[in-house]
Amino acid sequence: MNKNAYKITGGRPLRGHINISGSKNAVLGVLAASMMIDGACVLENVPDISDVHVMVDLCRSLGAVIESEKTPEGSLKLSIDPRTINTYKATGPEVSKIRASYYLLGALLARSGKASLRMPGGCNFGQRPIDLHLKAFKAMGAKGANPEDLSGGIITLKADPLKGTNVFFDIVSVGATINVMLAAAKAQGKTTIINAAKEPHIVDVANFLNAMGARIKGAGTDTIRIVGVPVLPGNFSYSIIPDQIETGTYMVAAAVTNGDVTIHNIIPTHMEPLSSKMREMGYTIEENEDNDSIRVYREDDEVITGTNIKTSPYPGFPTDLQPQAVVLLCLSKGISKMHENVWQNRFQYIPELTKMGANINVYERVALVSGIEKFKAATVEATDLRAGAALVCAALAAEGTSYVTNAGRIDRGYENIVEKLRSLGADIEESSVNVYDIDGEA
Ligand code: EPZ
Repeated sequence: MNKNAYKITGGRPLRGHINISGSKNAVLGVLAASMMIDGACVLENVPDISDVHVMVDLCRSLGAVIESEKTPEGSLKLSIDPRTINTYKATGPEVSKIRASYYLLGALLARSGKASLRMPGGCNFGQRPIDLHLKAFKAMGAKGANPEDLSGGIITLKADPLKGTNVFFDIVSVGATINVMLAAAKAQGKTTIINAAKEPHIVDVANFLNAMGARIKGAGTDTIRIVGVPVLPGNFSYSIIPDQIETGTYMVAAAVTNGDVTIHNIIPTHMEPLSSKMREMGYTIEENEDNDSIRVYREDDEVITGTNIKTSPYPGFPTDLQPQAVVLLCLSKGISKMHENVWQNRFQYIPELTKMGANINVYERVALVSGIEKFKAATVEATDLRAGAALVCAALAAEGTSYVTNAGRIDRGYENIVEKLRSLGADIEESSVNVYDIDGEA
């Protein structure tokens, strides 16, 4: 079986400086929001990743005009004009390629009072319902899909008109918080979201909506208040915030290779959940005075000890850094505990990490990680986006040549990962491998 892969010969400490790209999970919400403008806008610091390409194609398929320009830094600059949108339906098969296509429900409802969407896709972590989104839209006056009865397929919602209301979430949901902000921005009257998600990308989408002319207050806290407006004039430029998860992934890559890396164009406070755990383990994390970079390294002879981590919504430890953090825990002394508190099934990569010598036992949502001296090279599969990034980190630390297959999953969220790692001294290249031919593995 041929699969695209990253071929990595590990054991080299990563050293040097890199720049972080724009946030995947912010730009996907922002792109959907841009479909609501009654004007045009320019988006800068857009990461050149495959999830963005899918979302841009989805927006174009609605009739929006989007021109894309590659910048010398490697990011994209998008000029967006949604005034030519001529449908409320996003029902093609490409909708199922990504999770964030669900933001088109909120955006199209806000734009025209109608939205029709194929069920979104995304990484497989067990059940990923969208009942909270649909209950909130229903409370705002949208009729159509029944939140309790979703067997997949097409969701169609109509609201005449969409009205502001109080929305209480019993589970903190990034997607539902953003979707309700989108719909409420143009609804009649006031909407209050209670128990909202507080992730940095929630704040970025709210800032973008406000730049469009929306009236949103409280994003970044657990109560968000939105006063709907009839027109969102637009005509502005907006730069996407740096990616918290890409930053964390390079922090882990630097640490597990015993490297010394300075990571630029970041927001250090967003990294505090990971930085504080890494400091506790014995790594040195220095925030530079310019306040937009951090340096990650390990003092000579510093012993790296294990710790316990529990994922939870921001400002807790991000679930999207859970697999990378498990790689970090593998190379620490003692027994560590990783508790996955957000997703039902996000340990699917552990059998792959075990092929590299990891010693991990999973009990439902808890992984008990026993420290090992070293990873060994192996052929492993990127079972999802962040799992793939974690396996790349492990391969960078392992002696010998590893292949991380299904690398397309990693490209969903990491701009130019091969070039960035090479600039730090990594031996990594893209490769097409026959997985049955490598080291006798099937
Ligand atoms: C977003 O997914 C991110 N995706 C995920 O990142 C991230 O893991 C997740 O937030 C949590 O931070 C995007 O932004 C595109 P949720 P989302 O709604 O919005 C339950 C990555 O690697 N829930 O916050 O789909 C749900 O089952 C990706 O970049 C309901 O029960 O996540 C989960 O247990 C992977 N009903 C919890 O809430 C709902 O209607 C949090 O999910 C919605 C969610």
